[in-house]
Amino acid sequence: MTPGSRRGPAAVVSGVGSALPAQVVPNADLSVRLDTTDEWIRARTGITRRHVAAADETTTDLAVQASAQALTGHPAGVEALVVATTTPDRTCPATAPTVATRLGLTGIAAVDLAAGCSGFLYGLATAAGLIATGTAGSVLVVGADRLASLPDPEDRTTVPLFGDGAGAVVLRCGSADELGALRPVVLGSDGRGADLITASHPGALRMEGAAVFRHAVDRMAAASLQAATAAGWELSDVDRLVPHQANSRITTFVARQLGVPYGRQLSNVADVGNTGAASIPLLLAGAAADGRLKPGHRTLLTAFGAGLTWGAVALTWPDLPHTLTPERGRP
Ligand code: COA
Repeated sequence: MTPGSRRGPAAVVSGVGSALPAQVVPNADLSVRLDTTDEWIRARTGITRRHVAAADETTTDLAVQASAQALTGHPAGVEALVVATTTPDRTCPATAPTVATRLGLTGIAAVDLAAGCSGFLYGLATAAGLIATGTAGSVLVVGADRLASLPDPEDRTTVPLFGDGAGAVVLRCGSADELGALRPVVLGSDGRGADLITASHPGALRMEGAAVFRHAVDRMAAASLQAATAAGWELSDVDRLVPHQANSRITTFVARQLGVPYGRQLSNVADVGNTGAASIPLLLAGAAADGRLKPGHRTLLTAFGAGLTWGAVALTWPDLPHTLTPERGRP
């Protein structure tokens, strides 16, 4: 098929949901225990607060809550589930089978994948493949992370950046000319940068902030251009740019490189920080609920994360009558 061709079956977005822990940690709380200030954090990252899970609130809990919201209006559930996470509750077993069972979907295909903060886009591509091969007629893709647990609690350079949350999207088999149809997903990785973001266990995150910053801007801008081209779009066609919410300086640079005007860029980093694989679906759910994202908007998603990994995909936002305002309570 030629780039942008719109024939044949496709994975079509038919639901979106999100979940945030109840506990909110504003910058001022961090400056009590770390050598930092609200002004520094806001100026360097755009972050003012983040949600942090309680000790007994797991990645699985957040994933279940976001998934249940995304499945509103889907009484038959889905035929497969992909959970993208860097912070599973346990190394073994995977998160997804438990999430499926807690949703009443025991028996469906269920798998975790780890691609850092790009995990949700890798999940979308996986779901599109499951649909294209006829393996599943509908797939729930969840991004869920508890990244606030990863930094050394004494490290002022990383603690302010991260928050916890989950977001979920339902994909069903539809046709490529429908609203909500995913266009080709652009994905990439570069293991030469593996040591730029590492975490062997909670409390042990290490990050080369400045190098990560440069890679994030370059990779998200390049992937976005590729995804727009694959969809047959000019960058001036983009109504909504939805970049991974690493920090507002990174996303501003990406939008500037692409020439996407500030007002077309969606953001929630001020309120939630960097929520890893949850970042993009959490932002989609919030923006769809409050009207920043409307049916017909030509929408470009892009992400970057540890690995290094990156990705981007274009879709025209669908009409989702069941979109709910994100809940801010515990499951
Ligand atoms: N409060 C106050 N000062 C801080 C601080 C904090 N929270 N964190 C770092 N500093 C200090 C540093 O110690 C350094 O001080 P020094 O000059 O005396 O050594 C100074 O601020 C500048 O540090 P630097 O790391 O150069 O700042 P920066 O402008 O690069 O901003 C980040 C740091 C982390 C905000 C930035 O590098 C970044 O956003 N990187 C990408 C991180 C990211 O998004 N990762 C996930 C990608 S998925």
